[in-house]
Amino acid sequence: MEKPSQLSVHHPSVIPAWLVPFLSLPFRRLWDSPQRIVLPLVRPGDRILEVGPGSGFFTVPMARALGADGRVFCVELQEAVQRRLRRTLERRGLLDIVEVRACGEADLKVKDLEGAMDLVVAIHVLHEMPTPDRAIAQMASVLRPGGRLLVREPKGHCPASLFRSEVDWAIQSGLSLVPHPEGNRTGACVALFEKR
Ligand SMILES: C[S@@+](CC[C@H](N)C(=O)[O-])C[C@H]1O[C@@H](n2cnc3c(N)ncnc32)[C@H](O)[C@@H]1O
Repeated sequence: MEKPSQLSVHHPSVIPAWLVPFLSLPFRRLWDSPQRIVLPLVRPGDRILEVGPGSGFFTVPMARALGADGRVFCVELQEAVQRRLRRTLERRGLLDIVEVRACGEADLKVKDLEGAMDLVVAIHVLHEMPTPDRAIAQMASVLRPGGRLLVREPKGHCPASLFRSEVDWAIQSGLSLVPHPEGNRTGACVALFEKR
């Protein structure tokens, strides 16, 4: 798939592992509230793929909302981040619900999840990837028909042209844009899709 020329000026870079714990500072809830952003999309017992979970800022509330019958599969690039997230989940008694997996920079390694996910969550991560188009195709492939993909990007780090391309790639992967039940009060780059 050909990429738009604007992408050649975007140089993706991955957040350093030492900065990741700062993503869970409590005041982040003022503009990135898990209650408003992800929990309206989560039902008890759902199966969720979260790409780039970082410190687990969204993982922990999602796992708690799922209950014992649900499952979150987290795919994370950095080993130090995976380790810290497992410790966080263990302390909160959530390791039975959340599986933290290693993935490659350009391969989410989710073939075994194909067609099985109710929800895929990619928050503040696609702009860090060298091949976001490929990741979006993989995320679409794990959704069941009627399953949803939530993409959210930080305005300061994700050029508008890249976000527009991400929406196009999702549509090319067989997804349709749908309204988020809570709207978009923060004006962030956010899009919710449903698999046809
Ligand atoms: C800016 S952080 C966001 C973390 C979390 N989603 C949040 O909003 O708090 C991006 C995370 O994605 C991970 N990441 C970056 N590139 C990735 C890739 N190609 N595959 C999976 N994870 C990746 C980073 O290691 C980091 O943990």
